[in-house]
Amino acid sequence: MSERIGACPVSHTDYRAATAPTGHYALLDEEREKSRFFWNDQTERGFWMLTRYDDVLAGFQDPETFTNEITSALNPQKGIDLLPQRLGGQAHADMRRVINPYFSPAAVRRIEPFATTRCAELVEELAPKGTCDFVADFAIRYPTEVFLVLLGLPAADGEFFVPWADDTFRGFFGGDPDKARAASERIMAYFADLVALRRVKPLDPKEDLVSRLVEARVDERPMPEKDILTICMTLMLAGLDTTRSALGYMFWHLARNEPDRRRLTDEPDLGPAAVEEFIRLYPLVIQAGRETARPVDLDGIEVAPGDVVWLGIGSANRDPRKFPDPDRFILGRKGVNQHLGFGAGPHRCLGMHLARLELAVVLREWHARIPDYRIDPGTELVERGGQLTLTGLPLEWTP
Ligand code: HEM
Repeated sequence: MSERIGACPVSHTDYRAATAPTGHYALLDEEREKSRFFWNDQTERGFWMLTRYDDVLAGFQDPETFTNEITSALNPQKGIDLLPQRLGGQAHADMRRVINPYFSPAAVRRIEPFATTRCAELVEELAPKGTCDFVADFAIRYPTEVFLVLLGLPAADGEFFVPWADDTFRGFFGGDPDKARAASERIMAYFADLVALRRVKPLDPKEDLVSRLVEARVDERPMPEKDILTICMTLMLAGLDTTRSALGYMFWHLARNEPDRRRLTDEPDLGPAAVEEFIRLYPLVIQAGRETARPVDLDGIEVAPGDVVWLGIGSANRDPRKFPDPDRFILGRKGVNQHLGFGAGPHRCLGMHLARLELAVVLREWHARIPDYRIDPGTELVERGGQLTLTGLPLEWTP
């Protein structure tokens, strides 16, 4: 740790490597307590790490300096097109204005009846079995089906969409790139069919996102087909892996903490508060990447324009300067809503109300049917690096 670049200590931690569950938080905690800033040398471009809550929040709130030219410090190449993420300034605000209404609290409430019924059905299918891999058998299927229905598509398409989505995610995190490319091409073709259908037979654009994208004018021009498809793909990439991962951590926690599980079973209305504290405690998007547009002075450390910056969500959410007793799950924690698990500033998560709703529905419906469960003691669990997820979670219960 004595190594420094100018005034800045150097971190050799590779956050892309896999660990045991919560292993990445332990690494992040250690670094945050050692220094506000690090230079991390583990990627080709390297990056400046902001580790503490106040600095990370300030970074999110200054998009003119910390730009979305890139969105991941660990994977800063500009090859993956994401919309609206990659936009900044007015162009970003214009696109968010078109999409935001479909993801407002009121809009996502429309999906609650389907989300509830389908969740109950999936849990009822699993309950008599007494065992499942929570990640593969439930946590990816459920958000995928809700996502499809939200886009006005049949939930049954989840049967082939789930493996496509799975192969695409794996490609981002070290899986077979050919398989990932083939899967994402299938997904794009699938969305292209949907867009073609809505052009011929539009639904009510107040309720149907793709119909709205087709008729929307940005700068008085229709949105290019490519942008519409990129938005659909981005929603899938941003929404499915994250929700699956959040569910994995929630159930890993609850399977090992009987009093918390019992409380949520006995008082199902606590679901939304629990979800917020889970997102704070287990932030699976541990960083947002930014590129600097101008020189920045980080308390005496000189950052040049064009450098990569790591806004450390994972360390900020467990910063004891902001959240006392940060490693404990505290239902009803004061100020929990100020966590950065969904980011902050103009790029704050578009899908956060949908995610909150889905996660709260699962807590309620699962515990009404399977109140007691444990992790199969014979398994070794793995936490994927990069964007965190538990790669599997074998649960067992008495049917
Ligand atoms: C627990 C689940 C989720 C978590 C933890 C999460 C986390 C995040 C975070 C941290 C950001 C900010 C990234 C940045 O500033 O660079 C973000 C942005 C975004 N999220 Fe989520 N997300 C979740 C679910 C969803 C869902 C369900 C959707 C949509 C279906 C979604 C769509 C998006 C989009 C489109 C953005 C980019 C917004 C922009 O750049 O304007 N997310 N999310």
